Amino acid sequence: MTEPSSAPPAQDAPAVPDVFDPRQYARGIPHDSYRTLRDHHPVARQEEPEVLGWPAGPGFWAVTRHADEVRVLKDAATYSSCLGATQIRDPDPADLPFIRSMMLNQDPPDHGRLRRLVSRAFTPRRVDRFAALARERARALLTAAVAAPGPTTDLVPAVTDDYALLNLADLLGVPDSDRGLLLHWTRRVIGYQDPDEAGEPVLDADGRPVNPRSPAMLRDMFAYARSLAAHKRTHPADDVMTALATDPDLTPAELEMFFFLLTVAGNDTVRGAAPGGLLELARAPEAYRLLRAGKADMPTAVDELLRRHPPVLTFRRTAARDTTLAGRRIRAGDKVVVFHASANHDERVFTDPHRLDLTRSPNPHVSFGDGPHVCLGAHFARLQLRVLYEETCRALPALELAGPPRRLVSNFINGVKALPVAKAPG
Ligand code: HEM
Repeated sequence: MTEPSSAPPAQDAPAVPDVFDPRQYARGIPHDSYRTLRDHHPVARQEEPEVLGWPAGPGFWAVTRHADEVRVLKDAATYSSCLGATQIRDPDPADLPFIRSMMLNQDPPDHGRLRRLVSRAFTPRRVDRFAALARERARALLTAAVAAPGPTTDLVPAVTDDYALLNLADLLGVPDSDRGLLLHWTRRVIGYQDPDEAGEPVLDADGRPVNPRSPAMLRDMFAYARSLAAHKRTHPADDVMTALATDPDLTPAELEMFFFLLTVAGNDTVRGAAPGGLLELARAPEAYRLLRAGKADMPTAVDELLRRHPPVLTFRRTAARDTTLAGRRIRAGDKVVVFHASANHDERVFTDPHRLDLTRSPNPHVSFGDGPHVCLGAHFARLQLRVLYEETCRALPALELAGPPRRLVSNFINGVKALPVAKAPG
């Protein structure tokens, strides 16, 4: 195979397709557009027009090949998480100092200090302790879904939404009575492009929607984090909030920010991955049979399902200096956005990338990112998915769609809002 050119596109190259508009993701991942970008415009200029009431932005570079994405994510000195934070939408400049106090939006060496501190709360030993609880929960949710009246069940509201949220609440140590709050907050922050998820947007004095990541929108969540930390200091337990609240090196503001980061990073990701993986299996009955028969190694299968359905679609960096990527000149201050689902289907790295191969190994997918910000919760996420798929294999002899799945309107989270399946497939 000849390597497609890295130089600026040839005159007769196809036009650059739009991969920004969040509405197209409700129809599916735009794999054809990604392929066009990878083959002809691996670093492509994207417009950022006003959409769904959200104001227009200056546009950005879309990075769609695996090698280029890894390069961007590993080179924090050139591609900063701090300058413009990590979402495609530009934050309000007044909110930037606040947003930059979160480690996700920091660069080395500052980032390393916080990362080391919070990694101490995420020991594999602590995470593994939650496996039995996750299994009990998966079993109970699946049993109730199968036992409920009617020939079909929607696995999203019946199983996967609660599963992700309650597992995170366990790990953090959020009491049962407060768990609805967690769901409310993550819906507001992540689902904001989708009217089904976010409800009516909050508008500012000029009638513009307020950025859900602005400090004003997060005040109640931070107040809650403070009171939970105080509670943990008097009632310590083996959970992440106790570990953070009792760590003398972490300031109260850092702790509150970390609670926010975990609430959004740890919930909607698994909430997207779980039904996404099940949908992949429903579309590949032979693969599901193999898994049920124990003929595919479950951890290997989990990674292949994450490759095919990366729950996070994009992350943003900002060029800290003039540079060149895949032959394109990028100027200091430009937004650079990596597209995980495209990198995960790059023919230069993955053989037959659109085939679900539960035995694929090695599998260098980038669903958890790469470089200094590589996902801190990957071990916990993989554990939850492994347990859920094992219990699904037990509860459902076949996975058969009973209607079309519904997807989230978002260019950030690869969300599945409905996954109706037959309980007793024909
Ligand atoms: C399948 C599920 C998940 C996926 C696909 C995922 C994906 C990611 C990605 C792509 C990043 C890198 C962000 C960047 O490059 O700027 C990240 C960072 C992070 N993730 Fe996850 N995540 C998942 C689950 C979780 C869970 C369950 C937790 C915690 C309980 C978590 C906590 C974090 C944190 C704290 C960071 C920030 C790390 C840093 O800035 O150094 N994630 N995740």
